[in-house]
Amino acid sequence: MRSFIAVAALAAFAYAAPEPIFGSSKNVARDDGSCMTSADADQVATNFQNLIASYSDALANASLTVGFQDYSDSVTSLIDAGCTGPQALGSVTFSSRANFEQGQGSQPAIPFERLNVWNGCDAVFLRWRTALTPEFVTGIIVLETTKAPAGSQYNWLINTVYSEFNSGNWLVDLGTFVPTNCAANTRRSLRA
Ligand SMILES: *[C@@H]1O[C@H](CO)[C@@H](O)[C@H](O)[C@H]1NC(C)=O
Repeated sequence: MRSFIAVAALAAFAYAAPEPIFGSSKNVARDDGSCMTSADADQVATNFQNLIASYSDALANASLTVGFQDYSDSVTSLIDAGCTGPQALGSVTFSSRANFEQGQGSQPAIPFERLNVWNGCDAVFLRWRTALTPEFVTGIIVLETTKAPAGSQYNWLINTVYSEFNSGNWLVDLGTFVPTNCAANTRRSLRA
């Protein structure tokens, strides 16, 4: 029995074709120079980090596509301060590079610590933290990119951002939500 399982496992392993990691074949890493390198991915992560931590229009122009879009219900929660408007959940948060420049450019600098960076062929995955008080906030960002035109400052431009983070604690840090009953020594239910 044991040897049957071992042989079956080996056969299954030998049979398994390489699987696309991200479901769409265009995202499967290829070793033909058409995919980003880890150094490219690091630069994409650095560019986004700097847009949050030390924003400039020049960097936004150099690192984002004109048609850039940013989806983040977490940001929408901060914009709405926990209310149902003015921005609808699920809608695009920044609909173009110019719109991002308007929105992000008017924000104070936000400390941004990189925790992890991974990448596929044309996407970068970034885990990050910001040292707000009294409670720090951790988030995960997917950055979809396109190859930059020849002669550009950076090899890959950020085209779409999907970004979510711990907006509950951020709203506490902003004073929008004031927690009550913090002394209760039990975990709260996930549903009201
Ligand atoms: C950024 O690009 C816009 C056009 O998309 C231009 O109007 C603006 O002057 C540029 N800003 C900088 C700082 O390069």
